Amino acid sequence: MATKQIGILTAGGDCPGLNAAIRGIGKTAMGRYEMQVIGFYDGFRGLMENRFVRMDSSFLSGILTLGGTILGTSRDKPNKMVIGGKVMDMTEVIVENYYKHHLDCLVCLGGGGTQKNAFHLMQQGLNVITLPKTIDNDIEGTDITFGFDTALGIATEAIDRLHSTASSHHRIIVVEIMGHNTGWLTLGAGIAGGADVILIPEIPYDISVIAEAILQRNRAGKHFSIVAVAEGAVSLEEVKKLEILEGRKERADKEDDKEIKRKIKQEISELKQKASGNTLQLAMELEKLTMVESRVTILGHLQRGGIPSSADRLLATRLGTACASNIQFEKFGVMLGMNGDNICDVPLKDVVGKRRMVPFDHPWIESARNVGTCLGDKLV
Ligand code: F6P
Repeated sequence: MATKQIGILTAGGDCPGLNAAIRGIGKTAMGRYEMQVIGFYDGFRGLMENRFVRMDSSFLSGILTLGGTILGTSRDKPNKMVIGGKVMDMTEVIVENYYKHHLDCLVCLGGGGTQKNAFHLMQQGLNVITLPKTIDNDIEGTDITFGFDTALGIATEAIDRLHSTASSHHRIIVVEIMGHNTGWLTLGAGIAGGADVILIPEIPYDISVIAEAILQRNRAGKHFSIVAVAEGAVSLEEVKKLEILEGRKERADKEDDKEIKRKIKQEISELKQKASGNTLQLAMELEKLTMVESRVTILGHLQRGGIPSSADRLLATRLGTACASNIQFEKFGVMLGMNGDNICDVPLKDVVGKRRMVPFDHPWIESARNVGTCLGDKLV
């Protein structure tokens, strides 16, 4: 049998565990199945520009515990790449490079966007397999993504540390946590760190409910509060405004009025941008409503940096090694996901265009409410 050739790339935002996954794929592919492995630099852009490295065992040595990705990454899309200031469809060039290297499979490690881009290449006839990585934990078809556990640990530790300073100064500390448009990270870290208020995009909040929860804590002798807010959290008021705009957009769509449609689209995107990213405003309003001094901490990219947790190293290694076996047995067109503790093949078509949100009846939500955490929707 001819030696199989595989290509690996990492795309989208980086996260801890990517190198463990690259190592898992590479070592199994080269050591167990005698495949040849090349890595493309900086995601789909490197594949398009044919910037690559031939891997050998020394390339993969000592990377298990490294954060980030040794291959580099970018948010470039094959069909919408900025080249010399212009957005261009570079799919054909990517397909050419795939064949130039006689690849039997391209492995794409990434989040929701990467799944979509890999699916696009699959539709052009390429053999692709993806692995789910993101600190957001929001990929359809898998119970968990690698990167999430490490970020959860960082955000929890941040909340732990904020507790002592909030308590000493009798302040509200509003801590903003990443997660894009989902609340997994904030809910998980909020529960693990004992935040008093947890605000996630899936549950639009009412600011007066939060203020009342904080005042109630004060009346009970607890003169500080930790508010964990997801970067994508929105207020009920904003949701209502958005609904009105969506209604107007629907009417404009029917009438096919291009100018009105453009204006409404712009208003919607501005509102969404304003809504997520209003943590400073939230803290100021809470201070006004409660008369308790407030401070803000935005964790930002700290949550994506540094060494992966043992759970992420384990998960990424398991998915990486299973990926090499998939290539050996020619099971393509899938994302390798986790169903409980089992690795499963999820057809890419079932993954793309979807986002895994926190369900309203998720046990984490019930636990948060049971320990008296305010989720911004009603008093517990
Ligand atoms: O998807 C991972 C993530 O960290 C999100 O939580 C966040 O919204 C986004 O990436 C930030 O992207 P960038 O690194 O491009 O600023």
